Amino acid sequence: MEPDDTELKAPSSLDPASSDYWEQAYRMGTPPWETGVPAEALVRVVREKLVPRGTVLEIGCGSGADAIFLARNGFEVTAVDISAIAIERARLRAELEDCLPRFVLADIFRFAPTAGQFDFVYDAGFYHYIRQTNLHGFLDVLWQVTRPGSYYLTVAGATGETADGGPPQVSADDLHYELARLFELVELQQCRIASPRRKEGYLGWSCLMRRPILRPATAK
Ligand SMILES: C[S@@+](CC[C@H](N)C(=O)[O-])C[C@H]1O[C@@H](n2cnc3c(N)ncnc32)[C@H](O)[C@@H]1O
Repeated sequence: MEPDDTELKAPSSLDPASSDYWEQAYRMGTPPWETGVPAEALVRVVREKLVPRGTVLEIGCGSGADAIFLARNGFEVTAVDISAIAIERARLRAELEDCLPRFVLADIFRFAPTAGQFDFVYDAGFYHYIRQTNLHGFLDVLWQVTRPGSYYLTVAGATGETADGGPPQVSADDLHYELARLFELVELQQCRIASPRRKEGYLGWSCLMRRPILRPATAK
């Protein structure tokens, strides 16, 4: 059965900066980003060993499929979401799959300052929302949770998708101008973002970046 479109819409009368907005999206059923399987872009990056095994922070982990995939592939996972329903679903999914990422119910803006630094930071569908309302705050978060040499992968909706109902869209220039303030680009590839709303999914970016390792200038 095709999911009912009205069921999938996040509630537009609420502010996406509030936890109620996200809570309501999960309470209403299956939100348009929830597929229950790991993101194609993340699977490729891990399979191609583009990021080393180590600690990883997932920002806005939703119901946990990506965090579980990372834990199964040898990463030490901390996965944060502001929605209690999403975290509950994630913990249940992990229990059923006999896998134990660390799921944390928290607002990333409160969590980040004391979270420490991770080898790898990942989000699917967080940057492309938050950049619209609080890009500077998010850059502060990324600064706090990375160190020189840390990797950051974002999976974001891409400009050029003409189908209705997809994720917010960002251009390659947006990614460069907004994220290159902190990171250097490792790889930018187009990908498909899966959705229960559309079997072909939506056009997206897999953008892998790394925080530069600054070396002291050598005296001449
Ligand atoms: C578009 S959904 C993507 C979820 C998941 N990454 C996926 O692909 O299925 C964005 C997620 O970010 C979470 N979120 C929104 N604001 C947040 C915040 N300030 N701190 C932590 N999580 C947040 C939402 O609850 C939601 O689960």
